Amino acid sequence: MTASAAEIQARTLAGYADASRLRQVHDRDWVLDQVTGEPRVLLDLGSGIGQLLEAALDRFPALEQAVGLERSPHRLAEAAGRLRAYGPRVALHESDLTTPEPLPHRPDVVTMTSVLHWLYPHERRVLKWTRDHLAPDGVFLLTTYHPARDAHGLGGEDDIVRTVLQARHADVPGLFTAAGILPIATRTRTFDELEPLLERCFRIETVHDRDAVVTVESAAQYEHFHAATFGDYYSRLVEPAERSGFFRAVGETAWRRQVETGHVSHMTVRLWRLAPA
Ligand SMILES: C[S@@+](CC[C@H](N)C(=O)[O-])C[C@H]1O[C@@H](n2cnc3c(N)ncnc32)[C@H](O)[C@@H]1O
Repeated sequence: MTASAAEIQARTLAGYADASRLRQVHDRDWVLDQVTGEPRVLLDLGSGIGQLLEAALDRFPALEQAVGLERSPHRLAEAAGRLRAYGPRVALHESDLTTPEPLPHRPDVVTMTSVLHWLYPHERRVLKWTRDHLAPDGVFLLTTYHPARDAHGLGGEDDIVRTVLQARHADVPGLFTAAGILPIATRTRTFDELEPLLERCFRIETVHDRDAVVTVESAAQYEHFHAATFGDYYSRLVEPAERSGFFRAVGETAWRRQVETGHVSHMTVRLWRLAPA
């Protein structure tokens, strides 16, 4: 059986530049607008395909080093292509942020957008690492995503996946548990859980919230967004032979919501401006 385009895309997380227009890309200018002065070293954690680094290099001519840490080799390769023209101003490192290695950089700005939930339950390590690397007068700009969560810990994208799977499975939360897949809404800590965690390493200077509303123009567009953003995280809940149907059903479910409610989903995104404690 041949894999569908969405299955292939999910394996390599391809197509993110296009897919991220629906939600994540709005973090970029929101975060960079918080930078004051002329930073010399900016470090982006979970730098993906290098979009924030590219925007920072264009915005801050005095930026000497734009450094990206990222786990996915596919995304790093795409970032390297995007940032090639900036030459030695760019350094990209393959890194797992749940076990970050020391780096010879002392950034005056650290950014992390739409990544922290992937590091659950080990967020403390990267927070401590960031505090230890940040310049004494530096700033850490972090965005966190907060889907509403039900009693099973499911919400946001989990909810779309549940709608797809409940046609065949009576107990979808049980299916997540059996497969060892944590709902993303569980990975995302609440504001009340996050605050003390952040305050162990940082002083919270300001917070800003925005409502991230996702709307789509077709089922295919959402199928593409899901595959590029979540990869094969959820599709592992179904047998390999059912995966192309799974991606298609995610797109169709999202499209039905779009038609019925005028959007697919919405959730609060918080931008935390943090200084070393
Ligand atoms: C939703 S994307 C966000 C990318 C980019 N920061 C943005 O805002 O568009 C999440 C990124 O975090 C990366 N990531 C997830 N877990 C990671 C880990 N343990 N270490 C490093 N990067 C990780 C993923 O590969 C992906 O590029």
